[in-house]
Amino acid sequence: MTTITKHNDDYVAFWNQVLVTKFERFRNILMGGMSYHSETPLRKLHLPEGANALDVGCGWGDTALALARKVGPSGSVTGLDCCETFLEKGRTDAASSAMDNLRFIAADVQNYPFEPEYDFCFSRFGMMFFSNPVAAMRNIHRALKPGGELLFITWRKLEENPWLSAGKETLLQYLPAPGDDAQVCGPGPFSMSNPEVVIRQLQASGFTDIKVEPIDGPVTAGDSIEQAIEFQLAIGPAGEIFREAGEIAERRRPIIENALRQKLSPYQDSNGKVVMDSASWAYSAKKPNK
Ligand SMILES: C[S@@+](CC[C@H](N)C(=O)[O-])C[C@H]1O[C@@H](n2cnc3c(N)ncnc32)[C@H](O)[C@@H]1O
Repeated sequence: MTTITKHNDDYVAFWNQVLVTKFERFRNILMGGMSYHSETPLRKLHLPEGANALDVGCGWGDTALALARKVGPSGSVTGLDCCETFLEKGRTDAASSAMDNLRFIAADVQNYPFEPEYDFCFSRFGMMFFSNPVAAMRNIHRALKPGGELLFITWRKLEENPWLSAGKETLLQYLPAPGDDAQVCGPGPFSMSNPEVVIRQLQASGFTDIKVEPIDGPVTAGDSIEQAIEFQLAIGPAGEIFREAGEIAERRRPIIENALRQKLSPYQDSNGKVVMDSASWAYSAKKPNK
């Protein structure tokens, strides 16, 4: 058996070269679905005015903007993401809201030379893609001041997220599973679905007061059945199967699209939107005071 070890740079390159375009194409689905899961944690979050916050894997930056509103003009927020393309949207939105208390930096969270200057670190679905999660968590720990807090959201198991598992099940009836050498975005969206593992990773990185809470909710997996099918073929586990299968996938596209249509149609609401269940964890932890 061949063991394939990937470096974080490979994942960062994959995000920039392959996923950015797909994410931009389905921004409405992704942004809407992911926002649902940050709504309650962000609403409950108390951040004092003047705090200095960090948002890692911030993507389009909507959560960085939400944090910037909380900390007010005397506070500051840094949104960090490895894809400059995503950050451009964050910068544009910040400028059009006349907010000058946030900045966006294109960098790899796992290797960025942080100073211990942040009171708080947040991440919505931006923590599951590091080649070495403990190294990345230690780096975030380094970025926090003593007593600083970390709050991040990750997906629960694939089986608890039918909006991504339904497509995978369907595609595997027509295409082979991706091989060990498949090009991927990192350990992947479900790599932090086991709280026992994540709690141990957080402890190994120096965090204490660790808590985890489930969040369940609906995701619009397509504004129409056609968009839902396109989304499945582009992103997530089904997208990976389709991409890796290459030419054979394109040849079987009509039959696969038909099978997806049958699978996803029962989830259409009265407006034709495809609405499915999704499930995440919200983890919180602290850097000890000394
Ligand atoms: C699923 S998206 C979530 C984006 C955003 N937080 C949201 O909820 O809309 C994951 C994000 O993590 C970023 N990312 C992945 N690996 C990263 C790394 N090593 N360093 C910085 N950002 C990374 C990706 O570019 C992407 O924007």
